[in-house]
Amino acid sequence: MNANRNSKSTTVAVLGLGEMGSALAAALVDAGYPVTVWNRTPDKADALVARGALRAVAPEGAAGAAEVVIINVKGGAAARELLRTTGPALKGRTVIDLTDGSSDESRATGELASEHGAGYLHGQIMTIAPAIGSPDAVVFYSGSHDVFARNEAVLRVLGGRATHVSPDPGVSVLYGMAVHDIMWGLLNGFLHAAALLGAAGLPVGDFTKIAEPSLTALPSLFPMLAGEIDRAEFATPYGALRHHLPSLDDLLTESRTRGIDIELPTATRDLVAEALEAGHGHDSYARLVERFSRG
Ligand SMILES: NC(=O)c1ccc[n+]([C@@H]2O[C@H](COP(=O)([O-])OP(=O)(O)OC[C@H]3O[C@@H](n4cnc5c(N)ncnc54)[C@H](OP(=O)(O)O)[C@@H]3O)[C@@H](O)[C@H]2O)c1
Repeated sequence: MNANRNSKSTTVAVLGLGEMGSALAAALVDAGYPVTVWNRTPDKADALVARGALRAVAPEGAAGAAEVVIINVKGGAAARELLRTTGPALKGRTVIDLTDGSSDESRATGELASEHGAGYLHGQIMTIAPAIGSPDAVVFYSGSHDVFARNEAVLRVLGGRATHVSPDPGVSVLYGMAVHDIMWGLLNGFLHAAALLGAAGLPVGDFTKIAEPSLTALPSLFPMLAGEIDRAEFATPYGALRHHLPSLDDLLTESRTRGIDIELPTATRDLVAEALEAGHGHDSYARLVERFSRG
């Protein structure tokens, strides 16, 4: 079953044809793979069948018809329920689970796939459905590297930037969560800044044009911060935590004056003030990771 992975004759099943599953199946059909599709609500398969996919009336029928079984449903519990339903039909197949959930859920789904005699990878899709199939679409995979290597051609159809990140099936979702965690932090900061500028009567678009070099420089700090965190070495000659407090106080004063919400900058000020009280004023901002590491 696992031979000939790089051929367009590799048979693929897609279980789950919601917004994302439909995009995954369409990309594979368009790339010339033989694709069998199944969805709990059957009529969601109609457009894909018209495009060239084969319809299965039951998930075990779809899995039985394919070497590679892609699962993309809502929630890890639904994904595991599907694996239990497909059961013996999975023997010798490769299960690629692209369902979001926790790292423990990805591992549990992987164990279930192994119990049924299937290879397993968990993939964390880092894009929205319209970008599926593009060379720039990022998907993190974790689980067996061998399974990744044998199925790389199929995986690259889904997203050109398919990357194997760890043999532990739980790591792909952790990487995805980390990106989202950073995204929400940046977005909240941006929106608070937008509220501040708006309250001062300044168009936010003018600001983003002018401040572009400062804004795009922010992510370039991450590798330096990551190095400090990994080495647990935080001493820095420039830009230490003690310099952040006056700037945060200025932001709070301005926010109060403009009548905008102060919860977000207050939380940041509290973090910095606590670190200064603990004697970390000459350390880099990365020192605050210790605060986040406590529950
Ligand atoms: N959409 C995105 O942009 C995006 C991006 C990255 C990752 N993802 C992930 O991709 C997965 C699917 O998302 P989606 O956006 O396609 O969701 P969706 O449009 O809401 O579709 C959900 C799919 O899950 C199926 N489903 C739900 N419960 C089920 C169950 N108990 N048994 C069998 N099938 C079940 C649904 O079947 P019915 O049609 O019968 O309801 C449908 O096919 C999620 O894990 C999501 O987090 C989505």
